[in-house]
Amino acid sequence: MNEKFAQVTNPRYRLNFHVAAPAGWINDPNGFVYFKGYYHIFYQYHPYSADWGPMHWGHARSIDLVHWETLPIALSPEKPITQNGMFSGSAIIKDDKLYLMYTGHHFGDSGNDDDFYEDQNIAISKDGIHFEKYANNPVISTPPIDNTANFRDPKVWQAGDTYYVILGGQTQDSKVGRVLLYSSKDLLNWTYEGAIAQAKTRDTEGYMWECPDIFSLAGQDILLMSPQGIQPEREKYLNLHQTGYMIGQLNIDTANFGRNEFIEIDHGHDFYASQTMLAPDGRRLMFGWMAMWESEMPEKKDGWAGALTFPRELTLKDNHIYMQPVTELDKLRIKQTKNNLLFSSDLTEQVLLSNVESNEINMQLKADKDFILKFRTADEVVLTLQFDQQNNKLIIARADRSDKRVGYVKPAKMISLQLLIDRSSVEVFVNNGETVFTERYYSEVHPDIVLERTDFKDVHVTTYELEKN
Ligand code: FRU
Repeated sequence: MNEKFAQVTNPRYRLNFHVAAPAGWINDPNGFVYFKGYYHIFYQYHPYSADWGPMHWGHARSIDLVHWETLPIALSPEKPITQNGMFSGSAIIKDDKLYLMYTGHHFGDSGNDDDFYEDQNIAISKDGIHFEKYANNPVISTPPIDNTANFRDPKVWQAGDTYYVILGGQTQDSKVGRVLLYSSKDLLNWTYEGAIAQAKTRDTEGYMWECPDIFSLAGQDILLMSPQGIQPEREKYLNLHQTGYMIGQLNIDTANFGRNEFIEIDHGHDFYASQTMLAPDGRRLMFGWMAMWESEMPEKKDGWAGALTFPRELTLKDNHIYMQPVTELDKLRIKQTKNNLLFSSDLTEQVLLSNVESNEINMQLKADKDFILKFRTADEVVLTLQFDQQNNKLIIARADRSDKRVGYVKPAKMISLQLLIDRSSVEVFVNNGETVFTERYYSEVHPDIVLERTDFKDVHVTTYELEKN
């Protein structure tokens, strides 16, 4: 195989303030942690081409969550690398050392994609930069007997003097997704505790639960994960795979998570495989992969593919998760322009920003009328966000795809929008993160952002230029 690192050959879609690899392919965020004064984020990484391939762990760190420094590759697969991958996992600190727990993915000799086994492994670092694989890996070598070979994505945490890990799994009999729980006193010797939750049916809750994560918000336990294979249902579950959560109660002693229905956490085309961490100040922070399996990803032509979302803070209100960009966003704001748009009623459109590249738009409007927000160039409308007032519904459409995405908000007098726009991505936070859309958009020309509405009275707009780093 070609052992040369991929190179970016055209910067046209490169992102300015999102975590992405220097070049090559990335997918899931991994090992999100705070260690010795830095936030660390790792990601599934194939440095040799812009396509998925033998997985490495790419690595970046930041003091403030918004300025990121790329570090050397943290984990590389054993040889032959085409048969071994460092799949997703998480991080934890023990005795002043940073432990990574990851899935070893091993393809068999047949060359078939479904000929594989998976095991769980540890790597340790003192400085947070150089990692050594534990000599007695794997620490969990086989899945439980009633599980298929799909057995991956460890998310580890500590409660008292015990460490716990959950793993995504699949039942052997009905082939549905589930979550497995293990416990350990030292992160190296693990005991299987049981399957804490599983899909009711393949079609409604998925055939494999990837990237499980479990944590408390406002006194409730949340199981966040990425089920594969939930069938589309009218306006729901429209991506190839979904990411969402179940609210419930984890009983560690009985290894059971009593839970409610699965709720999608993001309504855009480009969100998957999220991972959270508890920040030192108590916030629950999250990164997601800003893409979806099998999407076209036009930046592949330029030697790279994929990025992480802007880091988000999760909160729970009325049994619903709100996602907002971390408040450290304000460190990226370099110029503010504030408007209170009071135009005559015969105007039907306003350009809010021209030539966007790294910008934030905050808007409050009366929710009594439809509106359309357009990302527009001289030649095309690249992306639209439409508000359907009657149905409290938001619809995203993109020039490069025929399928739309839909989200709803609770009826309210006002609607607020916060848009984080980067060179080829936009994250839309509606009503303080009640509904969120994560999208890539592809335009060689920097678009203008235009608001169409019949009445611009009481439309408040604040825009910022964001630092490019
Ligand atoms: C999720 C996932 C994980 C796996 C990794 C492989 O997107 O499929 O389950 O560990 O990606 O890159």
